[in-house]
Amino acid sequence: MNEWEHLLGAQHRAWHKVLIRATGLVNRGRVVLRPPTPNSVSSALFSSSLFFWGCMCVSWRLKVGGNLKSNPRIHGHSCSQVLRSRGCLSSDDFQQLLAELEQEVERRRRLGQESAARKALIASSYRPARPDVYAPLQDAVLAPEFRATAEYSASPNADLGGLLQKLETLSEEKRIYRLPVFTAAFCGALLEELGHFEQSDLPKGRPNTMNNHGGPSAPRQVLLHELGLDEPLVTPLRERFLQPLMALLYPEYGGALLDSHRAFVVKYAPGQDRELACHYDNAELTLNVALGKAFTGGALYFGGFFQAPAVLTETLEVEHVVGQGILHRGGQLHGARPLGSGERWNLVVWLRASTVRNRLCPMCCRPPCLVDDEGFGDGFTREEPPTVDVCTLT
Ligand SMILES: [Fe+2]
Repeated sequence: MNEWEHLLGAQHRAWHKVLIRATGLVNRGRVVLRPPTPNSVSSALFSSSLFFWGCMCVSWRLKVGGNLKSNPRIHGHSCSQVLRSRGCLSSDDFQQLLAELEQEVERRRRLGQESAARKALIASSYRPARPDVYAPLQDAVLAPEFRATAEYSASPNADLGGLLQKLETLSEEKRIYRLPVFTAAFCGALLEELGHFEQSDLPKGRPNTMNNHGGPSAPRQVLLHELGLDEPLVTPLRERFLQPLMALLYPEYGGALLDSHRAFVVKYAPGQDRELACHYDNAELTLNVALGKAFTGGALYFGGFFQAPAVLTETLEVEHVVGQGILHRGGQLHGARPLGSGERWNLVVWLRASTVRNRLCPMCCRPPCLVDDEGFGDGFTREEPPTVDVCTLT
């Protein structure tokens, strides 16, 4: 067992302790009574300790406000060994990497406030091209198969076997599934609106704290909550449709206890960003829907669950199908192959269960150290959402 495997083994063990506790909650019939008010908490550990640089996860063991240069460590190998293997050969290279990481720490610290400011500016000065997209979620925008699958999942006699008959299983072992989500008409309307927003001179945020190659080259993205699409579209999609489905598919990953999300649209195009390095999502569960447009290439690929990127070998390749969504666990190592031609726009919804992540941050694999944030923050809560033992209900 090499050092990577040893470390990840430890992460697995810690992670499974969380899952066992979460499963216990489900098995004892405890359910969230009501959706909690929006969380406003992020993990300070995550904001300062985990970075993706190329296909490498770099952990800098420092406290917020500490000196990035004080004690840099990289999981499983000495700094010099890993950095050399990634092309960081000279002291100039190393200094450049440190500068990029320091920049990233500062960016993460400012994320919440800057996002709130962008949202306020968009709300006051942006005029949508498709106001209909902002209407409260109508069943008619959803694919009939998606509605039927969610309806089945919420029915009293639903079980996993019955649900799997309604999904396309892409990998039984990796627990990756696909199903139609939106109608073609809605995908078109959403793309028109997103294109209109992209053409505006309003500021656009980067959606997540995972960045591609440590620099400003992450794919073009729009955060849906900044655009005002959380309340009418994403929140009801999560609460009414995704939650019952995820509760059956991934109960031990908080599928029944989803209480927040981060939703964004990524764009890949020639001359812009064409691919995404392998990574984990800062989410218990993920929905990734291909909205269009016409494109070739850009397949998703999946490795193991919390597999070290450096040892990624056998992968599962999944081509996108417009209108359809892929469901997977956030900890499933994955990335996007280079786009061939055309433009690819995908809606990604990171689904979070504070009951699970409050105990162990999925990105740090350590208990989260919480700091105040805007909106849903990173999906943590300072207190457990209210629960009730349904066995006591009559
Ligand atoms: Fe991802």
